[in-house]
Amino acid sequence: MKNIDSYTHLRGESVYLDDIPMTNGTLFCAVFDSPIAHGKIKLLDTAEATTMAGVVRIFTAADIPGENQIGGIIPDEELLANTHVHFCGMPIALVVATSDEAARAAIKKIKVEIDPLPIITDPREAKGKGELIIPPRTFQLGDTTNAWSKCDYILEGQTETNGQEHLYIETQGAYAVPQENGAFRIYSSTQGPTAVQRTVARVLNLPMNQVEVDTTRLGGGFGGKEDQATTWAVLCALASYHLKKPVKYSLHRMEDMRMTGKRHPYSSDFKIGLSKELKILAYEATFYQNAGAAADLSPAVMERTLFHCNNTYFIPNVKATAFCCRTNLPPNTAFRGFGGPQGMFVIEAAITKAADALNIPASEIQQKNLLQTGDEFPYGQIADSEANECWNKADEQFNIKELQKGVDEFNASNKNHKKGLAIMPICFGISFTKTLMNQARSLVHVYTDGSVAVSTGAVEMGQGVNTKMLQVAASVFSIDPSKIKINTTNTYRIANTSPSAASATADLNGIATEIACTTILQRLKEVAAEELKTELSSVEIKNERIYIDGKATDWDWNKLVMAAYVKRISLSELAHYTPPGIHFDATKEKGHPFAYHVYGTSITTVTVDCIRGIYEVDAVKVVHDFGKSMNTMIDIGQCEGGIVQGIGWMTMEEIIYDKEGKLRSNALSTYKVPDIYSVPKEITIQSLTTEKNNLAIFRSKAVGEPPLMYGIGAYFALRNAVKAFNPTTVIPFDAPMTPEKVLMSLYPNT
Ligand code: MTE
Ligand code: HPA
Ligand code: MOS
Repeated sequence: MKNIDSYTHLRGESVYLDDIPMTNGTLFCAVFDSPIAHGKIKLLDTAEATTMAGVVRIFTAADIPGENQIGGIIPDEELLANTHVHFCGMPIALVVATSDEAARAAIKKIKVEIDPLPIITDPREAKGKGELIIPPRTFQLGDTTNAWSKCDYILEGQTETNGQEHLYIETQGAYAVPQENGAFRIYSSTQGPTAVQRTVARVLNLPMNQVEVDTTRLGGGFGGKEDQATTWAVLCALASYHLKKPVKYSLHRMEDMRMTGKRHPYSSDFKIGLSKELKILAYEATFYQNAGAAADLSPAVMERTLFHCNNTYFIPNVKATAFCCRTNLPPNTAFRGFGGPQGMFVIEAAITKAADALNIPASEIQQKNLLQTGDEFPYGQIADSEANECWNKADEQFNIKELQKGVDEFNASNKNHKKGLAIMPICFGISFTKTLMNQARSLVHVYTDGSVAVSTGAVEMGQGVNTKMLQVAASVFSIDPSKIKINTTNTYRIANTSPSAASATADLNGIATEIACTTILQRLKEVAAEELKTELSSVEIKNERIYIDGKATDWDWNKLVMAAYVKRISLSELAHYTPPGIHFDATKEKGHPFAYHVYGTSITTVTVDCIRGIYEVDAVKVVHDFGKSMNTMIDIGQCEGGIVQGIGWMTMEEIIYDKEGKLRSNALSTYKVPDIYSVPKEITIQSLTTEKNNLAIFRSKAVGEPPLMYGIGAYFALRNAVKAFNPTTVIPFDAPMTPEKVLMSLYPNT
């Protein structure tokens, strides 16, 4: 089935925040944010700005009726700076005016004097100064201390991975419209409508039932709107509360880049030990996570780094420790993979360092250590592994030896261009790592004309979740998809939702929808049995037709629905779903946190121009574990998008903050994302189709985040190409591998 949004997308008719018709009298706002990364506010002078044409009012922390607090996991983040600023871009004041332009013009007239305080931008420095947001955590399996003596090879090293700008095409934004009796409707470009609702209630000192949050769809979120969409919605609500007018804020790209957090940069240490047979016997890693100035989602992201520290390898002795380091950068946040990619980069670097030392391809070590079913993850869960299946199928389909031979032959006959190949096997756990978040509800109505409406907590952000929800309802009822409408995500229809995140949206909301539809279907079948005077077990509904013992009747779906209504049978259902069997004990750091894992193997080949340092990704060939995909077009689209986004993170996207904590890569002229010219010339996705029982919707495994990690292969492929040109060069594990870094590692001594 095609993505149900494709028709309106193509015609430009899909509704995003900026397409919502505005109510008469709508006001516009803009944030005045800190120009200094750390300091005490001495003076804030808004006098001149207030007199500017079109300015209605300027709000500061003093205007907040409830708590000046937006922290989700830890209450450590003010909405508007009160006495201190903690990062460049921290909101200090909110200008409300009759137009966007007037609000932004007034911002320039606000004056602030800040007594500077010491600025930390480096996570290791933060750790050294005791600036930790939460105490460190350690995941442990076996006993590394004793294992080192049994190792034949031991390697140590350090790695760096940089941040990543989400660059959702639709910038952050919200629109607050006051309702009667002091209530609010808030349109928000958010992955987490309930987080917006809860925080608006907290800041305005209102009960949650006074706050309706409505989300039609996002022009991309990628994790950047899981937590950080809240700020703008709450600011609009604050202004709307005081002025009793609708208030809108849709951020300029440079405001968005400057004021929002990104993927967490990490600095990490590793130590790896192997036997002569190339079995990894021991692995230790220490992760310094650059959290930024407040917790945001960092503790959860850090936890997922630990969960994925061994990627898809079985290692009997593991000790991984992570530090959540407070720095004076905008609070970093969720980004596709949620800390997993940062953990997986380090083990891949460790394996590569060992392979270099032994003068063998990394793939020899990778393959010998792939997880087997029954192996234990460092957090205690037992693997139901597809790692070898994916690797072996990739070898069958693509012939790794032949590909490597092609690369070697090319390199032997070309002096100034070199190719590199790398394999990237992945394993990603599906479930929110915080067990309680794994719950969802679905509200299904069947109307008397036979049409159906479905409401869930799922937010459509381009990943196609609405299409999947529609498929679930159409399949359970066995009716034409055109009979079904998916409603906007709204906190008045569905309460207490988890954000659409962790790749789990379709599973959680889809199974809730399946339950709701099945319950209604059962009632309809009971009506049919009664009306057609037969056993319930004889009744079947297929393609909108009622069958008895396999024989078609003259009853169709519409007739049955009307008959049920006449009999006063409920045609609505609100269903609740939580995946069974998941648990985690954070005091022991052991449990079974994931409903299941997604596996896969990618083979990446690149060509480096060894005169200029520029490069192309020739091909990414993948065998991906889809389970039994319920929508192959959408799922392959997710793979392609994830791969390109992962390659961008690993090769060209370079976030630069200076020592003063100012973002230098603050526009699209200084921050390069993959465009159509830099995507791989070839992306081939083959499916590992498994019929095994898993906890996925219709056994169709979650696909949103896992493919991003195939992009890590591009980093190691580039490294291999550089080494083909200059075998003795020493390349630090410092991602992204930009053309500048490639050039410097081609010619390290010039
Ligand atoms: N795909 C598109 N087109 N746009 C997005 O914003 N977000 C990614 C992924 N794929 C995203 C996307 C992220 S970070 C997650 S967690 C999942 O989609 C969320 O949706 P799902 O749970 O339905 O997979
Ligand atoms: N993934 C994404 N978002 C989250 C998670 C997670 O595991 N936990 C809390 N928020
Ligand atoms: Mo995705 S990072 O879990 O929004």
